[in-house]
Amino acid sequence: MSQSPLTDLDSLKQEALEALAAAATPAALEQARTTFLGVHGRFTALLKALGTLPQEERPAAGRVLNTVKAELEAALAARREALALEAARPKHPTDFSLPGRRRYLGHLHPLTQVTEDIVRSFRKLGFAVADGPEVEDEYHCFDALNTPADHPARDTQDTFYLDTPARLLLRTHTSSVQIRVMRAQPPPVRIIVPGRVYRRDNADATHNPTFHQVEGLYVDRGVTVGDLKGTVEFVFKELMGPETKIRFRPHYFSYTEPSFEIDFGSPLTRKMGREWLEIAGCGMVHPQVFENVGYDPEVWTGWAFGFGIERIAMIRYGIPDIRLFYQNDVRFLRQF
Ligand code: DAH
Repeated sequence: MSQSPLTDLDSLKQEALEALAAAATPAALEQARTTFLGVHGRFTALLKALGTLPQEERPAAGRVLNTVKAELEAALAARREALALEAARPKHPTDFSLPGRRRYLGHLHPLTQVTEDIVRSFRKLGFAVADGPEVEDEYHCFDALNTPADHPARDTQDTFYLDTPARLLLRTHTSSVQIRVMRAQPPPVRIIVPGRVYRRDNADATHNPTFHQVEGLYVDRGVTVGDLKGTVEFVFKELMGPETKIRFRPHYFSYTEPSFEIDFGSPLTRKMGREWLEIAGCGMVHPQVFENVGYDPEVWTGWAFGFGIERIAMIRYGIPDIRLFYQNDVRFLRQF
């Protein structure tokens, strides 16, 4: 009479679990599997011995053996996965301070390069980059900026309106983000907003239905036009060269009072046959705008400006036609 297959089950199971857990490589694991669960394995032998039991003992013994078999198979699968994970782990810890690989193909679009230069300049002065949605509503794009309902800029001939019940539109300027930022945070504020804007201009050499702007907004106690002028001069000298001069001319914007247009002159403008070129709009934030966003105009003062990125790039590189930026002709792009 042969021994019951269950006699040594516990110690065999223990031994098998330990062997599986100790396997340090896929080969060692396969070895352990063969030893216990292979066709001639030690656990498989117990399964085969079931047949030698008296008929009435077989079902109970079979159930016990099956449970253990499932346990061993689960342990095998778990170990296999652990080894696979270990194999996939990098051999050395990642050093995030190492320089990245060099881009071996292509380079940044000229508009991206100019935008990055602008952002870098303002960062030196402590400005943070903010952004907002290109699909806007009339409140952020016009109403909160004190732009009356009958202002020509709001005309459907100038602004792309979406065919939605809420009368959404494609923002015509990045000034909408001034409102979003001020409503979202208490003063002081020091931000710039590079971003895409849309106008219903027909494309010609200097106009395109979409282009890019940079908005700036500075709000604090006791902010003056002098701060504005100094900031603009610093940034334009960085962008356009140290011989750059700027001047302010009185102008009108509904969201600033007083408002100015900024002209700049440099060897670059002289090359274009012009002493001065108009480059940006700006002014002191209108008290009504502060009221609209919940800032107390008796306490807070600020200035804002906005200018076109394409225009800067065109002057800087002597590009005669704005449409060249969007055609992605490599003969053009390769030059930057
Ligand atoms: N939003 C104006 C434009 O698109 C530019 C501008 C002018 C922005 C004056 C300002 C500002 O923030 O104060 O032409």
